[in-house]
Amino acid sequence: MDMRSAKKEIHHRVFVNRSLTLENIKCYGFDMDYTLAVYKSPEYESLGFELLRDRLVSIGYPHELLGYTYDPTFPTRGLVYDTTYGNLLKIDSNGNILVCTHGFEYLRGEQVDEYYPNKFIQRDDTDRFYVLNTLFNLSETYLYACLMDFFAKSTRYKNCMKGFKHGDLFMSHRSMFQDVRDAMDHLHDTGILKERTLKNLDKYVIKDPRLPVLLSRIKEVAKVFLATNSDFNYTEGIMKYLLDFPAGSKNPKKPWRSYFDLVVVDTRKPMFFAGGTVLRQVDTVTGKLRIGTYTGDLQHGTVYSGGSSDMVCDLLDVKGKDILYVGDHIFGDILKSKKRQGWKTFLVVPELVKELHVWTDKTSMFEELRHLDIFLAELYHKSDELSSPESYSSAIQNGSTAERHLDSGSQESPDISAIQRRIKMVTYGMDLCYGKMGSLLRCGSTKTLFASQLLRYADIYSTTCLNLLNYPFSYLFRAPHVLLPHEAAVESQTKEQITELPERILKSSNIQRQCECDDADANCGQDENCARNNPGSSTET
Ligand code: IMP
Ligand code: MG
Repeated sequence: MDMRSAKKEIHHRVFVNRSLTLENIKCYGFDMDYTLAVYKSPEYESLGFELLRDRLVSIGYPHELLGYTYDPTFPTRGLVYDTTYGNLLKIDSNGNILVCTHGFEYLRGEQVDEYYPNKFIQRDDTDRFYVLNTLFNLSETYLYACLMDFFAKSTRYKNCMKGFKHGDLFMSHRSMFQDVRDAMDHLHDTGILKERTLKNLDKYVIKDPRLPVLLSRIKEVAKVFLATNSDFNYTEGIMKYLLDFPAGSKNPKKPWRSYFDLVVVDTRKPMFFAGGTVLRQVDTVTGKLRIGTYTGDLQHGTVYSGGSSDMVCDLLDVKGKDILYVGDHIFGDILKSKKRQGWKTFLVVPELVKELHVWTDKTSMFEELRHLDIFLAELYHKSDELSSPESYSSAIQNGSTAERHLDSGSQESPDISAIQRRIKMVTYGMDLCYGKMGSLLRCGSTKTLFASQLLRYADIYSTTCLNLLNYPFSYLFRAPHVLLPHEAAVESQTKEQITELPERILKSSNIQRQCECDDADANCGQDENCARNNPGSSTET
């Protein structure tokens, strides 16, 4: 397979954190925005940014802000905004700071220490730290950086730790955050953004003829529902556009609602996965809600508003464990449906396209980082002749490092400063390949908070839900076998011992080297050491 077709193949795949048998799925649920309705990037984020910026100016922010335009290379999803100091932070799952910026300025180690002496934040403090989790938040993320940049550079304002001073006026970072958040809610709740989107659907929304194919195929084998936080009018406009193809095309023309057994709008996720709200019926002609809570059976073609995930299970007569819910919001769609209801989860991560491109194109950088990490570890228990990064790869490769068996009585400690500098350089270089704030999923060899949540809460994930088309509905998504550190240590020790044995002894004693495939238990037969390729060998004595 050449490089180009290998890349194409990987973009069509669904990745697996926990094994999942599609055959057992009796019901598929879909989120709408950024899941079924994929917005064009950066056009949609630019629109969001401009509306947000203009709103701030209209409530009194300086006109100079109008000079800023959206730069898609700056923001990365999943950053945390510190409302006290106005910094954007990239953190790991424990709250350790990986990257810190103030405006567009990257803060160095000592500068970060001034704000965060432990290079750590208490991320449970959700009143102070706001996680910019969704793709809608990208424009907002960029605006925070613009605001810091503008006020910090403006000669009219005096820089203070917690804000900016102008005469007797103090603009705290906290108050600016509140203004941006309110402006963001205003944009969404008043329908300004939705109106502009509906007016120019071709510009902002990706229409893909494979979507009706996917939904039709699913409906033949399982129940299908839509659960979106959007209102009925917007949902109708978007879904009509996405699913109404002209007659005579590959798919017969049918109304968008007939692709679903149940449509729920105004779901107010994540609340939807807990207590939820009142379930009402929507008058699909006027878009108005019927008063009172709906208590009857499921009516086909009816659209509901509000409710909860329990009500969805009741109306569709399915159990939570039999539902696969597909969404883009790591918290509102995935974490909550998994933690609260035990649903199976599929996270849509559009950024994976870029992440996979960089991963494939920059393999050498990741390799160097891996070698540096190994070298660092080796330094602590091997010869001190390896004190420079230049010597590490040859030393590791030719195995010239002699064991020293340092223990708690040892006085010396290796000089690792050169290696650390190199690791920082490679990490920074890698980050820039993704964008100015780096990857969504990693910073060097450390996983971001987003990556940890993805691993923990998404059973499967992919760049788009359309990739489900590439698998039969009886498919077993099998998770890779992951060893715990102590198990991996035993395994590598065993491997080392076995590979150290001369080939002659291996042959004569019939010791089976472990299959190198990632499916060792199943004996895949693809590896020369696999039992399948050595029939009978494991039983010979
Ligand atoms: P879903 O992804 O289909 O559940 O819909 C997301 C909905 O949330 C859309 O209607 C957005 O307009 C809305 N939304 C996204 N971000 C915000 C926000 O920051 N404030 C208020 N509404 C938002
Ligand atoms: Mg969504």
